[in-house]
Amino acid sequence: MSTDDWKRQAAEQALEYVEDGMKLGLGTGSTAAKFVELLGGKVRSGLKVVCVPTSEATRSQAAALGIPLTTLDDTPELDLTVDGADEIDEELRLIKGGGGALLREKIVAVASDRVVIIADNSKRVDVLGKFPLPLEVVPFGIRASERLIAKLAEDSGCEGDIKLRIGTDGKPFVTDNGNLILDCAFGSIDDPEALDDALKLVPGLVETGLFLGVADVGIIVGPKGVEVLSEIDIDFDEDV
Ligand code: A5P
Repeated sequence: MSTDDWKRQAAEQALEYVEDGMKLGLGTGSTAAKFVELLGGKVRSGLKVVCVPTSEATRSQAAALGIPLTTLDDTPELDLTVDGADEIDEELRLIKGGGGALLREKIVAVASDRVVIIADNSKRVDVLGKFPLPLEVVPFGIRASERLIAKLAEDSGCEGDIKLRIGTDGKPFVTDNGNLILDCAFGSIDDPEALDDALKLVPGLVETGLFLGVADVGIIVGPKGVEVLSEIDIDFDEDV
């Protein structure tokens, strides 16, 4: 079995949470894309849902599959969001934003009654931070923001290289919201809540890739099978 198979298994398992008539948030990234693909199949078979995508990439994929789309302006409360993650710990704390969609992902997740995270087991960590933490920042004054981020992070026990994300075209990566991303290689984040609180003092920082207290369920698939981390009751068979 490949990582791709595990991602697909996790996506299949997440489909169990989807019910007819639901308002869904659709995540971003290669794992979330598998969920969107499977959801498209269900929609073709008659499932009725309306969905809010967390990125323009997901919007295009879902639209091409014929999945009915809406916006948070028209549908501000969602039943369920299914999304991937770059890291997930035992307490369902996440690092997200590897795909640059963290702001919309967090807005959509927080507007959802339930959030299910799907991932292959390479994303499972004991301590967050090996994956560089993405921060979405406004372009104005980014160097000043970066200096303040470094100082506040250091005060919270986190040090490491902070790099402006560069896109595949060699230019600074620009998010769907017109902002930039700083990737912070802190190595390990021993107190994610303290770091998140500290970083939010930076005026030019729009959002962090720390998703704390956001996820309800983590479905993680690897060589040993399916592992479900949950804050809520699970009502499906865990064997895939
Ligand atoms: C997108 O901004 C991210 O938060 C993704 O959810 C994350 O990068 C996981 O992506 P993969 O499923 O491609 O690993």
